Amino acid sequence: MEPKIFDQIAKQYDTEDRVQLAHRILEKLKPFLNDTETSCLLDFGCGTGLLGIPLTSQYKEVLFCDDSNVMLDVVLSKIKAENLSNAKTISLADWIESPTILADQILLSLVLLHIPDTDSILKTLSNHLKPNGKIFIVDFVKNEKVSHPKVHNGFLTEELEQKFKSIGFRTVTSLVILEEKKVFMNEDASLFLLIAEK
Ligand SMILES: C[S@@+](CC[C@H](N)C(=O)[O-])C[C@H]1O[C@@H](n2cnc3c(N)ncnc32)[C@H](O)[C@@H]1O
Repeated sequence: MEPKIFDQIAKQYDTEDRVQLAHRILEKLKPFLNDTETSCLLDFGCGTGLLGIPLTSQYKEVLFCDDSNVMLDVVLSKIKAENLSNAKTISLADWIESPTILADQILLSLVLLHIPDTDSILKTLSNHLKPNGKIFIVDFVKNEKVSHPKVHNGFLTEELEQKFKSIGFRTVTSLVILEEKKVFMNEDASLFLLIAEK
């Protein structure tokens, strides 16, 4: 089996640049989060938990899921070090096989671009979201200068909004939240936040 790139980089993932970018994303995201004290948040594609770990202080519960078990090990060590009683990790395989695990809110930060079949993952996420739940997506706006066989070169937000509407989400909105230098395959990039309500 081909080694997973995120398994290989997990233990060195928390560079100063990534920590600072996650911090800037979090500051833009926070004003849009609601009912957090009573909600269970799924940080999907959580990586090392750069967004989800700080959010544990305001959510009732945060569940961390990732395709990389090494990333989940890093998250688990942070959960233990900070003695967080409202945080848990779950492997991607276990999450997929557990249709009864339903979140109130789901966050995907810089994850969707790594998943080849966008339609399929949006449907799967929707099936793991409670009625009236919300999905928050932070990702790159489409950039034609970026080309990589395993990564989407960003997204057109109108197309993504349409995908959510076609699977039954009631309201979908998006906005550009950040303009960053050399963050997307060494290209400058705009980052959007999309909020879809079931
Ligand atoms: C660029 S990192 C982002 C990590 C974190 N969300 C953040 O903003 O710091 C992308 C993460 O998505 C995970 N990932 C990639 N494909 C995935 C999939 N199909 N399901 C779940 N996680 C996936 C990777 O293992 C990696 O941890």
